[in-house]
Amino acid sequence: MSRAAAQGPRSESRRRRVVRALLLGALLALVVVAAGCAGGQPDIFRPGGSAGQEIKTLSYQIFAILAVVLITVWVLLAVVVIKYRRRPESEVSQTHGNLTIEIVWTLIPALIITVLFVLTVQTTKQIAMPDPGAQFTTVGHQWWWEFDFSEQGFKTANEVYVAVGRTTSIDVESVDVIHSFWVPQMGGKVDMIPGHVNHIHFVPLKKGKYLGECSEFCGVQHGKMRFLFVVVSPEEYSAWVHDQAQPAAQPTGAEAIAGGELIQTIACGGCHTIRGTPMKGTFGPDLTHFGSRNGIAAYTLPNTPQNLLAWLQDPQAIKPECTMPQIPLPLREQQQLVAYLEELK
Ligand code: CUA
Repeated sequence: MSRAAAQGPRSESRRRRVVRALLLGALLALVVVAAGCAGGQPDIFRPGGSAGQEIKTLSYQIFAILAVVLITVWVLLAVVVIKYRRRPESEVSQTHGNLTIEIVWTLIPALIITVLFVLTVQTTKQIAMPDPGAQFTTVGHQWWWEFDFSEQGFKTANEVYVAVGRTTSIDVESVDVIHSFWVPQMGGKVDMIPGHVNHIHFVPLKKGKYLGECSEFCGVQHGKMRFLFVVVSPEEYSAWVHDQAQPAAQPTGAEAIAGGELIQTIACGGCHTIRGTPMKGTFGPDLTHFGSRNGIAAYTLPNTPQNLLAWLQDPQAIKPECTMPQIPLPLREQQQLVAYLEELK
C-alpha cells in the first residue's frame, strides 16, 4: 500500500474535525449575536443617553474590526484546508527564522490593538466631559436607593426623574458596603463607596422609563436592588421636583385617615420619614410621596395595594435578609396602612 493511500483516512478524519470546529465556531458567534439582539429591558444596544450612545458606537467599531479578523482567519484556514488536503506532510516546506514573516505577524496584531486602544481612549474622553456640578446625590443602601435633592429640600427613594437633553450630574456614595450605580441605557457605571463621593454625568437623549440597577455585588439582595430612572421633558421635570418638595398629602378616605393615625403609633417612624408628620427616621426610604412611585421594595414589584399588603405582611418573604421588619398587625390595620400609603401621591 502506498504512503498516500495509508494517509487517506487519517487526513479525512482531520478534515472532518476542522469542518466540525468551523461549524461550532459559527454557531457560537450566532448565539452571541442573537443574545445581543434579544429584546427586553435594559438593552445597551438601545441607548437613551449620551454615554450609552458613545459606548454603543464603540462596541460596533470593535465588533466590526474583530469580525474582519475572524473572517480573514476563517477564510485563510478554509483555503489552506481545502487546497492542501491531499498533499503528504513530507512535501510541506518548513520555514525557520523568516524575518519578514515574523515582523509582519507581529505588526498586524500590534496595529489592531493600537486602533482598539485609540478608539477606546477617544470614547472614554467623550464620556468624561466637563462636570457642571451635581444636581442630586444618590446614596446606596442595602438594598435600596436614596435620591437626595438637598438644594430643593427633599429626598426620594428608588425612583428619580431627570430632564431630557440636559446634562444629568450625580454624586454617588454609600452608607454601608460598595454598590455601583448603573442605568445601562444611559451608559457608564460608577462605584458607590462608603466615605467617598464619586461622580457620574451624561445627557439623557430619549424620554422614557429606564431600569437602574446595582452592578457591584453587595449582599444577598444585590439582584433586587433596582430603581426606575425616568427621563421626561424639562417642564415635566420641574413639575416633578415641585411636587416632590411638597410635604405629604393629608389622607382623605376613611381607611386612609385611620392608617395615617395608626402609622404614627407603631414603629415605622424609627426608620422612615413622611414629611409633614412626626415621622423622621432616616434608616429606610423616605415615604413622603410613596403613592406616586411605580414600584415598591426597590422597584422589584409594581406599586399595587395587593403587593404593598404582601410586603407589609412579610417583607422577608419578598426580600430575605432585608432590614424591613415584619410588624405583626391585624389584617384590618394592615389594610388601613396600605390605604394611607397609597394616598401619599
Ligand atoms: Cu447594591 Cu449590589
